[in-house]
Amino acid sequence: MKYGRLISYTQDGQQLELAFEENGVLLEVLKEDVVHIRVRDDLPPCRSKAVEEKKSVPTEISVSRDGQQLCVTTPALKIRIGDDFRMDISGADETPLLKDYCGERTAAAAIGEKELKQIAAEGHDITNLKEKNYPVQTVKALDPDDAFYGLGDKTGFLNKRNYEYENWNTDNPQAHNEDFHALYKSIPFLICKKKTGAYGLFFDNTFHSYLNLGKESPEYFYYGADGGSLDYYFLGGGTLPQIVSNYTWLTGTTPLPQLWTLGYQQSRWGYVCAKDIREVAEKYRSLQIPCDVIHLDIDYMEDYKVFTWDEAEYGKPGELFAELKAGGYKAVTILDPGTKLEPGYFMYEEGMKNGYFAKDKDGNLYVNVVWPGEANYPDFGRKEVRDWWGGHHKALVDMGVSGIWNDMNEPASFRGPLPLDVVFHDEERETDHAEMHNVYGHFMAKATFEALKEQTGKRPFVITRACYAGTQKYSTVWTGDNQSLWSHLQMMVPQLCNLGMSGFSFCGTDVGGFGADATPELLCRWVEAACFSPLFRNHSAMGTRRQEPWQFGEEVIAVSRKYIELRYRFLPYLYDLFYQGERTGLPVMRPLVLHYEDDPNVRDLNGEFMVGEQMIAAPVLEQGAVKKIVYLPEGIWYDFWTGEKIAGGRHILRDAPLDCCPIYLKAGSIIPMYAPVQYVGEKPYDTLYLLIVPGEGSYEHFQDNGTDYAYRQGEYNSYRFTQDREGNITTEMLHHQYPEYQNIIPEPLGNGCIC
Ligand code: GLC
Repeated sequence: MKYGRLISYTQDGQQLELAFEENGVLLEVLKEDVVHIRVRDDLPPCRSKAVEEKKSVPTEISVSRDGQQLCVTTPALKIRIGDDFRMDISGADETPLLKDYCGERTAAAAIGEKELKQIAAEGHDITNLKEKNYPVQTVKALDPDDAFYGLGDKTGFLNKRNYEYENWNTDNPQAHNEDFHALYKSIPFLICKKKTGAYGLFFDNTFHSYLNLGKESPEYFYYGADGGSLDYYFLGGGTLPQIVSNYTWLTGTTPLPQLWTLGYQQSRWGYVCAKDIREVAEKYRSLQIPCDVIHLDIDYMEDYKVFTWDEAEYGKPGELFAELKAGGYKAVTILDPGTKLEPGYFMYEEGMKNGYFAKDKDGNLYVNVVWPGEANYPDFGRKEVRDWWGGHHKALVDMGVSGIWNDMNEPASFRGPLPLDVVFHDEERETDHAEMHNVYGHFMAKATFEALKEQTGKRPFVITRACYAGTQKYSTVWTGDNQSLWSHLQMMVPQLCNLGMSGFSFCGTDVGGFGADATPELLCRWVEAACFSPLFRNHSAMGTRRQEPWQFGEEVIAVSRKYIELRYRFLPYLYDLFYQGERTGLPVMRPLVLHYEDDPNVRDLNGEFMVGEQMIAAPVLEQGAVKKIVYLPEGIWYDFWTGEKIAGGRHILRDAPLDCCPIYLKAGSIIPMYAPVQYVGEKPYDTLYLLIVPGEGSYEHFQDNGTDYAYRQGEYNSYRFTQDREGNITTEMLHHQYPEYQNIIPEPLGNGCIC
C-alpha cells in the first residue's frame, strides 16, 4: 500500500483526515486509549459487522506538527505519524507500544517456482507459500519479548508468537493441530503483551486475511487481507484486562445467559430416534449424574431438511419435548443453513419465491451439497432473510425447544468451496462471498438470537460453530469437530482461554472429543478439565464409541458424577462471572497471564487456567499422568480439596490420581455455592453456601430469576460478603428487588467439598 509524503491534515473534533501524496487516512480517537484507523480508498464503505453502534467518548486531544511529523496526544496515548504513513503509538509516559516496521520485508519466505514444484510433488499444500504480499497490508515491528494472545479459536498454544494464521472460516475434518492456519471462526483481534506495556489490535475486515506473528521474521509481524480496506483499531488501556474491556466495549460483551445453560449437557450425532434420547435422559437420572440439556443433532429432521421433524422416528411433534421437560431437561435442536433443493418443500419454495437464496454471478440459483444433498444458501446478510429464517423458529419454540444450535455455517459445502463471486448481500448492498464468507455464521446466529428473544422473551441460548468478531453478543460457541485425542484435550485450555480473551466468554469444546474414540481415562480427564469451561457439553460423532459416562464403567461414572456435581455446586460463582462479564467483557475462563501479566512464568502457560480471579484449575492433560506440575502465581493460595495453605510464585508437584483435578483458591476468596441438584429448577435455590477461604476479602454476588430480562429493570439482588482479619463474615445488601435467600451458610474451606 502506497502513501508517500504527508501533505496536510484537517481536524474535526476527535477525527483527523490525513492527506498523503498517494492516499488518505482517517484517524479517530474514540476514547483516550482507543483509536480507529482507516485508510481511505476508493472502495465502497464496508459497514462494520462487529461494531454495530457508533462508539465515541468525548476526549481532549491535541495535535501538533513538527516538520514532517504529526503528533496526536490523548490523555493516555501519543500517536506520531510521518511520511509513508509510518505510525508509532506510545503511552502518555512514552512507553513504546505499537511501532510500524520501517525496513524491507525479508526475502526469507519467498520460495522460487522450482522449489514450490518440489514441495507440491509430495502433496504438500503450497497455496500459502506463493503470495506473501496482500492488497491490504500493514507491517509492525516486533520486540524479542512480545507475546500474542486472542485471535479466537485458533489451534495450538496460548501464546501465538512465531506462528501464522488465517481468517477464513473453515470446516476441516482433519485433526486440528497446531499447524492449522484457520478453523471455523474469524476474530481478527490480537493482544500484544510486551516486556513493558501491552496493546490490542482489531482488524475489522471480513475478507480472507492473514497474520504472520514472527514466523517470517523476528523483526516484524504483519497483517494482510485479500480485499476490503485497511481498517483497524488500536486498543490501549495499560493492562490486559483493560484491553479486553476496550475491545468488548467496541464489539459488545457476552450477555448474561439463562442459568440452566451453565448446567451439564449431553449430545451425540446418531441418536436416531426418540427412544435413544429417552434412554439417555432416563439413564442420567437413574445414575444420579446431573444433566440439564439434551441436544438433537441432524437425526431429528426428515431427510435433513431444516424446520422439519421426522415423525416416523421421533414421534408426534412436541411429545418428546414435553416428556423431557417433565424430567427437567431442556432440548436444543440443531439447524444448518443448507436448505434442501426440493420442489414442494416449503423452505425451498418460500426461499425461491422471495429470492432469499444466494445466486451465482450470472443470476442463477447457487447450489452446493451439504447433509440434505443439493442445497441452497440463505442470504443471511439481508434483514428480510434473517426475519424469514428466524420466523420459522416459532414452530420449534412452540414444540418446546429451549435453544438452537447453528452448525455448518462457515458455510460448509461438500462439493468444493463456494466461489468467491457467489452473490450475497450486506443488507441491501449487493456484494459477494469473498466479503460475506466470514460473517455468514455471524448473521445466521444474529437471526437466531433475535428470533428466540422475540418468541420466548427469555435470554436466547444459541450455539454457533462459525462466527466473526462481535458474534459474542448473539451466541455461545463451541470449537467444532475436535477428536478424542490427548492433544485435543490439551488444546482445550489455550483455545478456550484465547476465545475468552477475544470476547467469547461463553465457549466450550466437545467434551470427550467429537471424532475418534474416547477411552475411559481420556473422558475422566476431559470432564475434570471441562468442569469449569463455560459451555459443558459432551458430544461425539456417529460411528465413534458412544461417549456417555456409563459407556465406560463404574470408575468413569463416579468421576463424572463427582465433577458434574461440583459444577452444579459452583453454578452461582460461574453465573456471577457472566453477570460481571456482561459489564466488563472479562471472560469466565482466563489464562493466568490475564491477571499476572508481568510474571514471565505464565506467558506460555498452557496447562492451567483461572476461573474468574479467585480460582485456578490445573487439570491433568496427559495420558497416564497421576501428578501435576502446578504453577501458582504470587500470593497465598489454598488447595480446594485439602485446605492446605501454599505460598505462590513457584511450581509445586501435586498428586492427581484419576479422580483428582487440582484446584486452588486465592486467600480471602468467598465463593458462592449451591447444593447440587439433578438439574436447574429441580429445587428452589433458597440456600446459598459461602465457601470461605482464610484471609481478608470481599465478594459481590448477583441473584435473579435466571431466565429473562427482568434484571435489567432492576429485579435482582446484589449482596456483598466481607471477611475481616478475624474471619468474621458480614453481609450487606447492595440492591434488593428479588426474593432473597432463606439461608446464607458460611462454610470453612478444608472439608473437601461443602454443601
Ligand atoms: C458437524 C458438526 C457436528 C455435528 C455434525 C452432524 O460435523 O460440527 O457437531 O454433530 O456436523 O450434524
